[in-house]
Amino acid sequence: MTNAADKIIVALDVTTKEKALDLVEKLRAEISFFKIGLQLYTAEGPGIVRAVLSTGAKVWLDLKLHDIPNTVGRAVESASHLGVRMLTIHLSGGSEMIRAAIAARADSMLLLGVTVLTSATERTLREIGIYDKVEDQVLRLARLGTEAGIDGVVASPHEIKKLRAEFGNKIKIAVQGIRPSWAEPGDQKRFMTPRQAIEAGADYIGIGRPITTHPQPRDAVSKILGELAGQI
Ligand code: C5P
Repeated sequence: MTNAADKIIVALDVTTKEKALDLVEKLRAEISFFKIGLQLYTAEGPGIVRAVLSTGAKVWLDLKLHDIPNTVGRAVESASHLGVRMLTIHLSGGSEMIRAAIAARADSMLLLGVTVLTSATERTLREIGIYDKVEDQVLRLARLGTEAGIDGVVASPHEIKKLRAEFGNKIKIAVQGIRPSWAEPGDQKRFMTPRQAIEAGADYIGIGRPITTHPQPRDAVSKILGELAGQI
């Protein structure tokens, strides 16, 4: 059985390697999966990925790649060499780009596709010439990804049910926009609690600020694990 803690991925959205490794050290006893996104990767480069991996933890490298197929393929190859467990690409790059990414990845690495960013609205889609509802565009891109062989998608927790209904367990679903019941929503508007997201069918839940800006990040993790176990 999967342990609830195995589903939680802590987003290391901090400015320096020191801050990131301090969080990893504080949380490592309970958390074994960390996300490194554009902010930290741009500041510290692959060294921070190697440093987190050297603790024995897994890394989700959230670079949301989107470029010509050859360039994306070569970047996926580099991430495979680093040894990350999960990497993201934008599915809106099209099927040729998605297939190039899949062909280049190591067997040990899950390739997840971003459908529509959770920050996007119908207005955002209209600006780029898409006149469908966000939800329809999410499903269209998820179909494109699964037909090309993607391992999973990154979605808003509110999209889990529709994705599961259409794709069953063929794909992994990672969600963000998660707020424990006790946390401040901040700029998150359409959030779910960790427990609601897992009950809706998420395989992985990425959580950042409720843990990373908590005065005692370890206590925040314990409270979340307690909530998942139904103790809170
Ligand atoms: O909001 P929080 O700090 O928990 O965000 C954690 C991660 O989730 C961030 O790295 C961000 O990339 C992602 N995120 C998202 N959609 C949102 C808010 C955050 O995908 N609406």
